[in-house]
Amino acid sequence: MAAAAAAVIVAAALGGGLLLLARRLWPAAAAGKGSATAAAAAALCRMEGKTVIITGANSGLGRAAAAELLRRRARVIMACRDPARAEEAARELRAEMGLSSRERGGGGGRGELVVRQLDLASLGSVRRFCQQVLQEEPRLDVLINNAGIFQCPYMKTEDGFEMQFGVNHLGHFLLTNLLLGLLKSSAPSRIVVVSSKLYKYGEINFDDLNSELNYNKSFAYSRSKLANILFTRELARRLENTGVTVNVLHPGIVRTNLGRHIHIPLLAKPLFNLVSWAFFKTPLEGAQTSIYLASSPEVEGVSGKYFGNCKEEQLLPNAMDDLVARKLWDISEVMVGLLK
Ligand SMILES: NC(=O)c1ccc[n+]([C@@H]2O[C@H](COP(=O)([O-])OP(=O)(O)OC[C@H]3O[C@@H](n4cnc5c(N)ncnc54)[C@H](OP(=O)(O)O)[C@@H]3O)[C@@H](O)[C@H]2O)c1
Ligand SMILES: *[C@@H]1O[C@H](CO)[C@@H](O)[C@H](O)[C@H]1NC(C)=O
Repeated sequence: MAAAAAAVIVAAALGGGLLLLARRLWPAAAAGKGSATAAAAAALCRMEGKTVIITGANSGLGRAAAAELLRRRARVIMACRDPARAEEAARELRAEMGLSSRERGGGGGRGELVVRQLDLASLGSVRRFCQQVLQEEPRLDVLINNAGIFQCPYMKTEDGFEMQFGVNHLGHFLLTNLLLGLLKSSAPSRIVVVSSKLYKYGEINFDDLNSELNYNKSFAYSRSKLANILFTRELARRLENTGVTVNVLHPGIVRTNLGRHIHIPLLAKPLFNLVSWAFFKTPLEGAQTSIYLASSPEVEGVSGKYFGNCKEEQLLPNAMDDLVARKLWDISEVMVGLLK
């Protein structure tokens, strides 16, 4: 009896292990994706001559999107908080791509990577970044609002905003508004916003946007990701007939540095690592929808929509309230000093 039970357990463990291995070794098949068609589509989405700004491009999804758009020959501006970390990521990406750093200013046929400092937790930094872009860049074809901070302890930005709302929403709100003129003069152009499925637990509680009465880090993250979607829908309405589109996406669950503020007990770490290795997307898998919205001819002219796995998805009612979206826009304008 005991031997039979042990055999069953061993068999189950082996079977489970093989399943995990299969998912890792053939992720495209496991996810039901046709990798041949994806490769064919990628070949069509050349980004030669296009300039792309990616916030948070030194890590995780932003870094994977930067690598892929560089491979498709875009001029990629990595907008990052820490210039040293960003330069290091840029060096690694250039080396992977076989680009020498002297080719940076080369233009023409091959992609380029440029590092610029942007701290979304400082409105001054956002303004300085945009000033430099407006001075130096003749065009801007794609802006990817990707940077994000997840469930940090209670902190405030330089300007006194709750950190997750300040970085994920307000910083990107000011950034996008200051770059709109350049995006319009470069039309057709695109804005891509990275949100999360966790928006569904969010609500825009206008009475305490800085969480001074009560701070719940999960709620604050969800609220900031809901704000990303409401912002996208309101901006799409404002950009009708300008040739500038804006869409929002969720990437799924991806193995990145996003969980840096989450404490996992030491003993649970190996299990967490195993589960994330087996079931979480790789950064390149997670970045596919960002890359698709930034480059695919399939979404030319599409605006104000929510995507997952490169397909449009339906939103829950809390993200479709146009009155809340408009009110959030108006209050954000005041908070970032666009309106006095
Ligand atoms: N990973 C997931 O499962 C998942 C799921 C849903 C949504 N998302 C969203 O995906 C986006 C990318 O996250 P990720 O998973 O790739 O995480 P990540 O590896 O932690 O990358 C986040 C990036 O944002 C940057 N960032 C953070 N605070 C910033 C600030 N104040 N100013 C400028 N940049 C700042 C980080 O810079 P530093 O390296 O300097 O800190 C980093 O480059 C986020 O918007 C996140 O909400 C991720
Ligand atoms: C924090 O917010 C989440 C929703 O985002 C909720 O599920 C949870 O119960 C809240 N925690 C507390 C302590 O209120």
